[in-house]
Amino acid sequence: MSVTDPPRGSRLDSADPPATLVRSARSARPLERDPLLPIRVLFGSAALSMLTACGFEPEVPARTYGLAQETRAAFASDSEALLKLEAGLLDVFGPPAAPRYARVAAWEDAGIDPNRPDLATGGGGSGEISDAERALLRADNRIHFESQLAAVARGDFDDVDVPARRPGLRVAWRALLDERAAGRLDADALRARGRELFEGWYPSLADSSALYRVECLHCHGVEGGGDGPSAQFLEPRPRDFRHGVFKYTALAQPARPRREDLLRTLADGLNGTSMPSFSRLSLAERHGLADLVRLLSIRGEVERRLAATFADEGELEDGAVATETADVFEKWTTAREKVVVAATEAPVSTPELVALGSALFHDATKGNCSSCHGESGAGDGAAAWKLGLSGRKEPAYLDAWGRPILPRDLRLGIYRGGSRPIDLYRRIWSGIPGTPMPALGSAKKPDGTQAVSDTEVWALVHYVRSLAVATPER
Ligand code: HEC
Ligand code: HEC
Repeated sequence: MSVTDPPRGSRLDSADPPATLVRSARSARPLERDPLLPIRVLFGSAALSMLTACGFEPEVPARTYGLAQETRAAFASDSEALLKLEAGLLDVFGPPAAPRYARVAAWEDAGIDPNRPDLATGGGGSGEISDAERALLRADNRIHFESQLAAVARGDFDDVDVPARRPGLRVAWRALLDERAAGRLDADALRARGRELFEGWYPSLADSSALYRVECLHCHGVEGGGDGPSAQFLEPRPRDFRHGVFKYTALAQPARPRREDLLRTLADGLNGTSMPSFSRLSLAERHGLADLVRLLSIRGEVERRLAATFADEGELEDGAVATETADVFEKWTTAREKVVVAATEAPVSTPELVALGSALFHDATKGNCSSCHGESGAGDGAAAWKLGLSGRKEPAYLDAWGRPILPRDLRLGIYRGGSRPIDLYRRIWSGIPGTPMPALGSAKKPDGTQAVSDTEVWALVHYVRSLAVATPER
């Protein structure tokens, strides 16, 4: 990709990715790709143009989330409907500097507010974080805010330093200091309130968006389109969250990830890819990033769905964004019922089990794994390749994001979704969403019964592990 061709839907000018990259892409950006063009043309806003023209300001977040190129194409014939969609999305999800969910009727009725997963339903939140998790969050906050809590306890209120990457917390602490200055809090009350503030801290979506700008945006992009400035150099590409498809969960598919799945990805990273571990961040920060990934994913999926509807029907109903949002959100809340639980604990690997696994792996009527992964598991199975127009071998499959994909070389023993036996069990049972890797668990015999037994899946797990030249022992 050349610099005259910025990644789709990305807003390179507006965040803080590597400056050299941004400058070159920014200066060469063709006008017709400008996502704000319709608004500029309509309102003739010189101020807006001047702001984007005057250069890169890393500390300034993008003003709006951009739309995917596919969306623009679907609405090409009707710029009014496009503006309506953009306004609707902004209404329901807010801008990048302050993302938040608007109150959608379905949530009002149920008494939930997804803006605060840490608070109870009816108590201003969505009640997604259990008491046990909240206790863990407090314990972790005590570690991460050790110096602040110590200063508060000593009464050295001026020594309490809140890093800029936690803007919401800064504002809240300053507000407490103001109350003290105004004589409304005595030192003891400020100590108690300050302690609660740091121990009980849970980031708002705006706080998480500030952190996302620093930690994730250069790969995953402003809108979570997987198209940040670093993305073009990476294989596999960073995930485009807007499809609502996530590869590494503990769930039977199709399903949106649970909070636990996202937290695990954030804590461990994805082994063998550029997705790093973020265990250096606090637990509350990781929860907040999971909340933000969900918002970006829902926003993107709603956009994609409405673009598809518009392409079919040529119409965008009033309130369509809110209705669609409630619908997609529902999918995220029901996912937790779909966890794949093995009927038995992982058995100890035996030569017999490995032999059974090998037979299933190579049997076209059973596991059929070798058709893709090859006889020796090297990822060179016949089904994975085709003859291209040029007469050369090319990957036969595209992934859900339209990129060529090859089966894994299982001899390497690198498992992105985790290397515990139960992780491999779930991978084999559920397949890998967005890729051609099929779900063996949903395969049926002609009489409608389950094609593979629990033991057979464990046998495959042990066979796969035996293929690795050096399986890391855990
Ligand atoms: C250096 C690039 C990079 C950075 C920085 C990065 N990611 Fe990723 N991320 C990736 C790649 C690459 C993948 C996809 C790997 C694959 O397809 O196997 C990914 C995948 C993901 C997934 C999808 C997991 C799944 O089950 O499909 C989530 C969620 C995610 N990243 C969140 C984040 C968050 C949140 C941050 C910031 C805290 C972040 N990433 C920072 C590169 C990055
Ligand atoms: C239609 C082709 C296809 C078939 C059939 C197939 N796979 Fe895969 N498999 C893939 C692809 C493609 C990937 C890589 C996905 C990715 O990188 O996102 C993969 C990845 C894997 C992984 C890596 C998981 C991880 O966490 O990184 C394992 C293990 C695996 N396959 C095992 C199997 C087993 C066992 C079978 C048979 C039951 C099987 N596969 C059948 C295409 C296939």
